[in-house]
Amino acid sequence: MNKLKVMTVFGTRPEAIKMAPLALELTRHPEFEALCCVTAQHREMLDSVLDIFRLKPDFDLDIMEPRQTLSTITSKCLTGMDRVLEEAKPDLVLVHGDTSTTFAGALAAFYHKIPVGHVEAGLRTFDKWSPYPEEMNRKMVGAIADLHFCPTASNRDNLARENITQGVFLTGNTVIDALQTTVVRHFSFGEHILNHLDYDSRKVILVTCHRRENYGQPMANIMTALRRVADAFPDTELVYPVHPSPVVQETAHKYLDGHPRIHLIAPLAVDEMHNLMSRCHLVMTDSGGLQEEAPALGKPVLVLRRETERPEAVAAGTVRLAGVEEVSIFQMTSRLLSDQREYDSMAHAANPYGDGQACRRIADAIAWQFGLRMNPPEEFRGQ
Ligand code: UD1
Ligand code: UDP
Repeated sequence: MNKLKVMTVFGTRPEAIKMAPLALELTRHPEFEALCCVTAQHREMLDSVLDIFRLKPDFDLDIMEPRQTLSTITSKCLTGMDRVLEEAKPDLVLVHGDTSTTFAGALAAFYHKIPVGHVEAGLRTFDKWSPYPEEMNRKMVGAIADLHFCPTASNRDNLARENITQGVFLTGNTVIDALQTTVVRHFSFGEHILNHLDYDSRKVILVTCHRRENYGQPMANIMTALRRVADAFPDTELVYPVHPSPVVQETAHKYLDGHPRIHLIAPLAVDEMHNLMSRCHLVMTDSGGLQEEAPALGKPVLVLRRETERPEAVAAGTVRLAGVEEVSIFQMTSRLLSDQREYDSMAHAANPYGDGQACRRIADAIAWQFGLRMNPPEEFRGQ
């Protein structure tokens, strides 16, 4: 039997976390020849994920440079992908989400007339500038892609509004597949401070903040609010694994250094992150992925942004938008920390994003679409 050559392409930490389980799933299906190309838009953060999932890429463009711009990432990915696609000649290229790697990977495949599958398709804020540049990246990839793997029904509705109705599959999000392999009851952290925190008597707040549209004043507001929270609530411990971007590093250290209960630590390996999340009291973040993971673990999330492309967990009551102003962030956090009923109303497990079967559905959908399987894949129906 002629195998279908399917190439996964990714480059940043969140893409790797959400694509690694799929890349591995594809290797388990005899009808596919699975190839993996990383752009290494991120280096250490990508390698950490590859190590944990024991995934060895077939191609590595190694493009990362300090303070890289959107144009350099895109152009280096595009020319690097040219060579890879020429050599490997895949039948299908799979990209994920909304990064510069995603856009350049899809565009390169299009230039080579290779079909594109978009994993995590259909997320929208309808604001071109926020998240920046991700909202435009996902719209442009949506226009290029032939197959669209939507995590939720509302993602599918978003595509329908853009007249994208062919090749659309409702699969759930692969991040829930990843989460199911990482969280364990007894976990020993490599980051020692995390082994010594008292998760029962202290309120451990997990913080992440890295988005480009938050650079500058919004990020300064966020950091000021975090320090106020730590000062006002002596029973809190803030743990903030700081993204290696120099802009983020400088801002976080400028505003948060020197506080005895604010712990600025290096980015965590994904298993450490998921196990910390499962033990913490509250998550404060501008990350997309954390908004999907924390609800599955029953942890309330305050989103440090003005909008979200992930309204499902807001509707489920586990996620709230805190904005990017010092006052709104401080007030919303204070309320959650001092009002137990308010906290309890948010702290319930909700799983609008997946059931751990997304990768299998995506593999089945590809096989069906290419005539290698009789039946269409079952749909994700929510939990
Ligand atoms: C990128 C994505 C964003 C995603 C985020 C996840 C784009 C435009 N943005 O943003 O959608 O949410 O990744 O984290 O694609 N760096 C290192 N080591 C690493 C990774 C990054 O040193 O392992 C530093 C480098 O100096 C690099 C900088 O971080 O230049 C910024 O990385 P970049 O990929 O450009 O942007 P992110 O903010 O990470
Ligand atoms: N993450 C991690 N270590 C960290 C911070 C985040 O493993 O120190 C994981 C997190 O659990 C989630 C993903 O990285 O799966 C989210 O990535 P990020 O916040 O960088 O990007 P986004 O999701 O906002 O695009």
